[in-house]
Amino acid sequence: MLLELTKEGKMWLGALLALLLCSSLEGQENSFTINRIHMVVLPGLEVQNGANLTLQCVVDISTTSQVKPQYQLLFYKDDTLFHNVSTTENAESYFIPQARVYNAGIYKCTVILDNKVKTTPEHYVTVRGVAHPRVTLDKKEAIEGGVVMVNCSVPEEKAPVYFTVKKVELDTRAVKQHKEKTSQHQNFVMLDFTVEEQDRMIYFLCQASIFSGKQVETSTTTRSDLVTVRESFSNPKFYIDPDGVITEGDQLTIKCTIQVTHSAPTFPEIIIQKDKAIVAHSKLKNEASYSVMAMAEHNGNYTCKVETSQISKVSSIVVNVTELFSKPKLESSATHLDQGDSLSLWCSVPGAPEINFAIKKGHENVSQAQNFTTKASKWDSGIYTCVAGIGKVFKFSNAVQITVCEMLSKPRIFHDSTSEVIKGQTIEIRCQSINGTFPISYHLLKASNTLESYTIDSNEPAVFKDNPTEDTEYQCLADNCHSHLEMASEILSVKVIAPVAEVKLSILNKKKVESGKELVLRCFVNEASGPITYKFYKEKEAKPFHEITSNDTQAFWYKTQASVEEEGQYYCTAANRANPAKNIPQSNVLAVRVFLAAWKKGLIGVAVVAVLIAILVLGVKCYFWKKAKAKQMPVEMSRPAAPLLTSNNEKMSGSSTEANRPYGYNEETGNHAMKPVTENKDPLTLDVEYTEVEVNSLEPHKVLKMKGTDTVYSEIRKAKPENGKLP
Ligand SMILES: *[C@@H]1O[C@H](CO)[C@@H](O)[C@H](O)[C@H]1NC(C)=O
Ligand SMILES: *[C@@H]1O[C@H](CO)[C@@H](O)[C@H](O)[C@H]1NC(C)=O
Ligand SMILES: *[C@@H]1O[C@H](CO)[C@@H](O)[C@H](O)[C@H]1NC(C)=O
Ligand SMILES: *[C@@H]1O[C@H](CO)[C@@H](O)[C@H](O)[C@H]1NC(C)=O
Ligand SMILES: *[C@@H]1O[C@H](CO)[C@@H](O)[C@H](O)[C@H]1NC(C)=O
Ligand SMILES: *[C@@H]1O[C@H](CO)[C@@H](O)[C@H](O)[C@H]1NC(C)=O
Ligand SMILES: *[C@@H]1O[C@H](CO)[C@@H](O)[C@H](O)[C@H]1NC(C)=O
Ligand SMILES: *[C@@H]1O[C@H](CO)[C@@H](O)[C@H](O)[C@H]1NC(C)=O
Repeated sequence: MLLELTKEGKMWLGALLALLLCSSLEGQENSFTINRIHMVVLPGLEVQNGANLTLQCVVDISTTSQVKPQYQLLFYKDDTLFHNVSTTENAESYFIPQARVYNAGIYKCTVILDNKVKTTPEHYVTVRGVAHPRVTLDKKEAIEGGVVMVNCSVPEEKAPVYFTVKKVELDTRAVKQHKEKTSQHQNFVMLDFTVEEQDRMIYFLCQASIFSGKQVETSTTTRSDLVTVRESFSNPKFYIDPDGVITEGDQLTIKCTIQVTHSAPTFPEIIIQKDKAIVAHSKLKNEASYSVMAMAEHNGNYTCKVETSQISKVSSIVVNVTELFSKPKLESSATHLDQGDSLSLWCSVPGAPEINFAIKKGHENVSQAQNFTTKASKWDSGIYTCVAGIGKVFKFSNAVQITVCEMLSKPRIFHDSTSEVIKGQTIEIRCQSINGTFPISYHLLKASNTLESYTIDSNEPAVFKDNPTEDTEYQCLADNCHSHLEMASEILSVKVIAPVAEVKLSILNKKKVESGKELVLRCFVNEASGPITYKFYKEKEAKPFHEITSNDTQAFWYKTQASVEEEGQYYCTAANRANPAKNIPQSNVLAVRVFLAAWKKGLIGVAVVAVLIAILVLGVKCYFWKKAKAKQMPVEMSRPAAPLLTSNNEKMSGSSTEANRPYGYNEETGNHAMKPVTENKDPLTLDVEYTEVEVNSLEPHKVLKMKGTDTVYSEIRKAKPENGKLP
């Protein structure tokens, strides 16, 4: 049993030992280190296009282990992984058979071992050259005007590829056409080449270029097969009839012909040109012809162009026509002449005897002879030519412009305004010469000075504008091409009336008039044309009290013996026919005062005092009479006397300015509709001087005036009805 156990135990032990040994073996740590990694590019960093390219990565690793460690090698091109291999070898290669431009780039490789990473430096590999291009054509035979399709490709390379294709003429090796194109997504291009008129045997050359890094790699040039070109039509050919010398008058025919190939895609058009002008053309025919009676002007270089949409063939010929006689020459005695002068025109052709002549004005024959003479009228103005002919050959001369000038008729002068001209108004003065060749220049004279000038291109009147301020005389002068001196019109007299602009009213002598003395009012205007109607108004009265029409700039109104009734506000108006009725100028308002003479006032004063004394005496008598035997009393009489006396006393003590106030113009004129004139202040000061004297002489008068002028005067008059001196 024990044996069995030990046997079994031994077995287990062995297994355990082996396990232990194994684990201890595995647990033993091996060390790895990457010493170096480098890349080898074969055959070199720069390879020719098509050469085999080998990239080799060599790794140098040190290890404590007996076994070679396995590591990973990663190949990169332009930082992109393209090959990944796991190996234990110390070198790994990547083979690129027949390197192309797209294989150029930056290569490197990286080793990864146990989390340790090491990378080689970057290797810049360039591929020189581009693979040979291939060029194929869609046809081997073409017709002029046809198209050849060229396929140029580089199957080994990758797009984008830049292609250059040239069309070459076999004989001359001249490049006839050249096309370039970049193919972005394919490694071929298809290009159309038109077959031109001069092409005979052509081939194409193709070259491909590709960007490789910073530079362009270019292929060799590949040549295509030959293309044989057939003509679609022949070169144009000229036929001139007659052969040899061509003289003026001969029938000249210029013909241009071509031969057209059966297989031509389109029928060409034939055009015969002389300089820029097309003289003949034809379509769908193989000839064009120009037929004309030969003249010297048909001399020249004729071109025949044969054209289809794509091709054009040209040939030219010089035609020489011999002159029969030279071009006639027309001369005139004058080109500018007055009506009535003699006009002569003569035509000549040097050294040609048997010639027919005709002189024409416009299209009209004026003479069948060599010479033409006439007495010029304005209808003879125009363009003259001469025609000379021998048989069918006619030649035109130079043109001569003749201008016959008709004399101006006496200019008419008139103005638009039928009535008189008001000062300041603009009038239009017209001048017109009804007959005479225009242009006509008009000058308007105003008092012998030229006011304005106009040139009119017709016989319509010239219109001048003026603004006359006084009676004016106008005249106009007209002149034209005629040799006669300028023509003068009649004299136009324009009467200008000045409207009344300003009216003033003044008083002769003083503004205060003593009653019984003369009162004279003067209404005057600054300047105005007569007759002027003057109207004198007293304020508040609708109708004028005096009206006069005069040629004078002033008018008067007289009152030989002024009375208080004449006192008041005056104004006047003045107008003539130039003033609009609605706007008659009005003068200033003039205040006129009429006062009583000092002796009259005194007389009144004495009378009043006498009455008062009488009343007093009467009163005293009454009193005593009452006392004796009481009866009635004349109280009413004493009443108006009392305020007279009291106010009189007050005023005596009052200042002189206060006393003046009732005379104040401002208060009085304030009632009037008319605005008082600026002189208003002056009468005020005049009043002051005046009233100073007044105060002493008659106080009651003034006091009463405070109530109202009219009443005062009437009362005084009542008091002294006997006084004949008062009006
Ligand atoms: C390039 O490698 C190919 C095999 O892939 C070989 O047949 C050819 O001969 C090699 N070319 C050159 C020039 O070594
Ligand atoms: C290389 O290949 C292995 C297996 O094919 C893969 O596990 C590993 O990730 C690859 N390495 C890279 C860097 O792609
Ligand atoms: C042009 O030629 C290439 C071969 O050289 C071919 O692959 C391509 O398809 C051709 N292109 C056309 C439009 O025929
Ligand atoms: C005639 O004109 C054509 C086209 O303009 C020109 O090519 C040619 O030289 C000219 N010939 C002569 C003789 O001038
Ligand atoms: C045209 O012909 C005349 C002779 O007929 C000759 O004198 C002249 O030179 C010619 N002109 C041209 C342009 O050929
Ligand atoms: C025409 O006029 C010119 C010049 O005035 C003169 O020499 C010539 O003889 C005249 N001819 C005829 C046919 O009158
Ligand atoms: C203008 O000429 C015509 C004839 O042409 C004549 O009848 C008329 O009297 C002339 N008038 C003046 C104003 O000369
Ligand atoms: C004013 O003058 C005109 C002429 O200028 C004259 O005919 C008219 O009689 C005069 N009138 C008076 C009122 O003198």
